Amino acid sequence: MFTDSNYHKRRRRVLLRGLAFTVVFYAVLWLIERNSGFVSENLASLKDARVAGEQEFTWEELIPSTELVWKDCYTGKQCARLIVPLNYSDPQGEKATIAVIKKPSLLAIDSKDYKGPVLLNPGGPGGSGVEFMQRAGDSISTILGPQFDTVSFDPRGIGRSTPRASFFKTDAERAMWPIRGHSVINNTDEGISRTWARAVITGKLAEEMDTGYLRHINTDQTARDMLTIVEAFGQKKIQYWGFSYGSVLGATFASIFPDKIHRLAIDGVVDAENYFATLWSNNLLDTDKTMRSFFVECAKAGPDRCPFYAPTPQDIAKNLTALYESVRKQPVPVRTETSYGLLDYSRLRSTVFVTLYQPYSAFLPLAQGLADLAARADGTTLYKILETPFFECSCGPGESILDGREAQSAILCNDGKDVPGDLKSAEKFFKDFAKESEWAEIWGAIRMNCVAWPKFPKNHFQGPFIANTSHPILLIGNTADPVTPLWAAKKMSRGFNGSVVLTQDSPGHCSLSAPSLCTQQHIRDYFQTGALPKAGTICSVEASPFPEKKFDSDGQEPLWDGMTEGDRGLLEAAHALSKSYSLPIPF
Ligand SMILES: *[C@@H]1O[C@H](CO)[C@@H](O)[C@H](O)[C@H]1NC(C)=O
Ligand SMILES: *[C@@H]1O[C@H](CO)[C@@H](O)[C@H](O)[C@H]1NC(C)=O
Ligand SMILES: *[C@@H]1O[C@H](CO)[C@@H](O)[C@H](O)[C@H]1NC(C)=O
Ligand SMILES: *[C@@H]1O[C@H](CO)[C@@H](O)[C@H](O)[C@H]1NC(C)=O
Ligand SMILES: *[C@@H]1O[C@H](CO)[C@@H](O)[C@H](O)[C@H]1NC(C)=O
Repeated sequence: MFTDSNYHKRRRRVLLRGLAFTVVFYAVLWLIERNSGFVSENLASLKDARVAGEQEFTWEELIPSTELVWKDCYTGKQCARLIVPLNYSDPQGEKATIAVIKKPSLLAIDSKDYKGPVLLNPGGPGGSGVEFMQRAGDSISTILGPQFDTVSFDPRGIGRSTPRASFFKTDAERAMWPIRGHSVINNTDEGISRTWARAVITGKLAEEMDTGYLRHINTDQTARDMLTIVEAFGQKKIQYWGFSYGSVLGATFASIFPDKIHRLAIDGVVDAENYFATLWSNNLLDTDKTMRSFFVECAKAGPDRCPFYAPTPQDIAKNLTALYESVRKQPVPVRTETSYGLLDYSRLRSTVFVTLYQPYSAFLPLAQGLADLAARADGTTLYKILETPFFECSCGPGESILDGREAQSAILCNDGKDVPGDLKSAEKFFKDFAKESEWAEIWGAIRMNCVAWPKFPKNHFQGPFIANTSHPILLIGNTADPVTPLWAAKKMSRGFNGSVVLTQDSPGHCSLSAPSLCTQQHIRDYFQTGALPKAGTICSVEASPFPEKKFDSDGQEPLWDGMTEGDRGLLEAAHALSKSYSLPIPF
């Protein structure tokens, strides 16, 4: 049920989380910041589970196996560690272990209605599937249906899978050298040279700490891991739903294993060619559109529903620009209950950018924060959106692993073409990019990760992304997605025979960022029956980023009346996801 107090609790959680990740494709808000509120919350809920008398669980006690040996973990989930080859071309060589998590089907495996596992990937790259399942697994399972095991995993290099990408000897050392820090890269007279210089050091650290495993952390090998997981379930073909970077992983799988597709949905679709060229240059085609939706929806909502209201979208845009200028001249000191820092230009820009990922949970706090800043020079609400608790050296065994940023660099730099290492090239690239998007000052940091990446042979799969798949794939795109423009879904669709693009008419990153019964019905039908939506289908959304107060107080949209129980469950799950979900953010 969507009660008032749950709604506010969720909203608070979203705030904490939102700040946690800045985006690569991080559906990209993910969890990647180990010191984030987001992660603390997970650790807290883990403790709750123990208090509640569930079986004591740590990943260490799971014996890695070439079969899936399940053990209860977290709430209502089961976990296993699967042994896979580190290098699939050398199956007898060294091994990796993949941390796998499932919310089991309600049906017995021998039931004729049991439909096997659906694998999820939350994006990033660098996002943890184990974390994603804790946040979103129950709602996604409601959407898919009880016939499926809802399954995810920490891709190799990430989180609880081993070997884990790590460039530092200790957690404290890692905390002292944030690889990225919610900042714009061209904010001082130094231009981008500071970001470039830091990336040079990080590249050296990656090389120093590499024992030979690092070159095997890539999307090609992870696609093969997915097939290994599917086969360990006793299945021959994959069922998969991948978000954001997860679309690169899905398209790679479909291109390498076109005969192994039972269902494959990619949601928030990346142009994989651009990704494998390590350009990251065409992700922002619709970002301004997402931003505009904030202005338009706020003006439409009126002063009661949108705290940063002004009569026209242009007024609101102007007022926001004035705030950028104001904090640029004068950073605002902030002290919250748990931390402190400055709301400066960099922080404000990153905060606004991150909210574009999830308008239905983040636009309202953004508007409130901007209003507080404008009225009282109070930066607290805005600061909290990306707030992370201070580093504390108190992690238990198996829990000091929650940092996806190193894995993110490893995956994207290994996958793609080498990036020229000299500063001049980086400056030229940035200058051209900045002509195309005002958000280049944030997004441009991603490619910069790779300027000093160790040189490995690039003989893994890097395209082409074309296939006659054994079942047509489904692509999903939003009309105003800040980092995966609809254009890319249409482009990628051309390579996959029979595939269909489902369009969701909403701002936000990936379909789950906005609650749409229509979208989720199509996705459920696809997984349950294989049916694809008609080409050209456009789904609308059942909510406003600035909801009517009556939605807050009685907890329900009036339009939910008269729905079937199944649809109501679906829409409730979609609402819960749009309020709470966050994907890893790559910058
Ligand atoms: C994987 O193993 C094959 C066969 O031994 C070898 O040729 C290849 O170089 C290895 N891949 C990497 C990235 O080292
Ligand atoms: C926003 O813009 C309107 C119209 O230009 C102006 O009257 C108002 O004072 C501005 N509000 C803030 C908070 O800057
Ligand atoms: C980057 O910042 C420098 C210094 O403020 C400025 O001169 C330059 O024009 C900026 N470059 C771009 C592409 O924005
Ligand atoms: C798909 O099938 C068609 C007709 O059989 C063939 O011409 C085409 O090359 C195939 N495409 C791929 C990528 O295998
Ligand atoms: C798509 O698949 C159909 C049926 O398998 C085949 O006849 C057709 O040639 C394929 N088209 C392309 C462009 O590969």
